[in-house]
Amino acid sequence: MKLVAPPTSAGSVPRMATKTGPPIGPFPPGVETDEQKEEYDKLRRRVLWKMPYGLYVVGARDGERRNGMTLNWATQVSFEPKLVGIGVEKEAFTHELIAAGKAFSLNLLPQEERAAVRKFVKPVEVDPDGRTLNGFAFHDGRTGAPILDVAAAWVDCELRQSVDCGGHTFFIGEVVDAGFQADEETPVLRMEDTRMSYGG
Ligand SMILES: Cc1cc2nc3c(=O)[nH]c(=O)nc-3n(C[C@H](O)[C@H](O)[C@H](O)COP(=O)(O)O)c2cc1C
Repeated sequence: MKLVAPPTSAGSVPRMATKTGPPIGPFPPGVETDEQKEEYDKLRRRVLWKMPYGLYVVGARDGERRNGMTLNWATQVSFEPKLVGIGVEKEAFTHELIAAGKAFSLNLLPQEERAAVRKFVKPVEVDPDGRTLNGFAFHDGRTGAPILDVAAAWVDCELRQSVDCGGHTFFIGEVVDAGFQADEETPVLRMEDTRMSYGG
């Protein structure tokens, strides 16, 4: 995973991307040469980047190992039962912790905390005595996954299914606890509040 800033009409927009080699198919009819494939790849990314998302910090824990990770690929996927799914890179430390700890939390940050997003893009420094993740105070949720004190709202999930999606795993968790830590009307962070994109 690396930070790239391809040229766009909107200027230099930071993109978190996982591009490692030549464009992957399938390709629509008429896209045959390497040049056409590159062009289509760029177009496909721009379309995928247009998809609207929220922006979260995922909390994960296995024993005394904890992490917080910035993530936008999150959605509720069922209301009976209450299931929430997140797409997590297989190389991420968070992936290892969720697979082992069988739980995750989803922290919804207040809009004004957008700077926090950049603090959770690699494994965090945990202060177990001060109970901080990269300086952000946390407490353990019902599952044991860390919940940031700064979160406006949060859900705590027990892992129910892990769907292999190639480079990512779609972890589906059941909400076993949830809460607000700020006024319910507090605007929460969305992808559009930053100048960042992920994947594509
Ligand atoms: C705006 C933004 C959105 C991101 N969205 C995701 C995501 O949906 N899934 C994911 O696996 N990583 C996402 N990342 C990358 C992770 O935050 C992180 O850099 C990487 O997965 C390593 O996490 P780790 O600390 O668990 O090793 C995103 C990063 C940024 C800056």
